[in-house]
Amino acid sequence: MINDLYQAFTEGKANVVTVKIVKELVKYTQYHFKSEEEHFLKLNYPEAEKHIEQHNSFTETVLKFSNDLSNNEVSLSYELMDFLRKWLIDHIMGTDKQYVGIKNK
Ligand SMILES: [Fe+2]
Repeated sequence: MINDLYQAFTEGKANVVTVKIVKELVKYTQYHFKSEEEHFLKLNYPEAEKHIEQHNSFTETVLKFSNDLSNNEVSLSYELMDFLRKWLIDHIMGTDKQYVGIKNK
């Protein structure tokens, strides 16, 4: 989705296209985080609270961005796309990796 966003941006697609992609990204992120958090509960994962805080903070930022974009209060920029890309990569490669191998007791 971030690649789609980048492509739409570089091709100068209308705002309506980027708004749609960002909304999809928000929806998928919420779905994905929720399912990850359900696993934490099942596994009694000790780092769950800190991890969920990161999810909530990211969701809040992206939701605000999505609303501002819909209301034409901000426009998409390389900086914003870079923030999304870096956050997701750092989270997946860092925070998410910490629970790999944790088994249900
Ligand atoms: Fe996560």
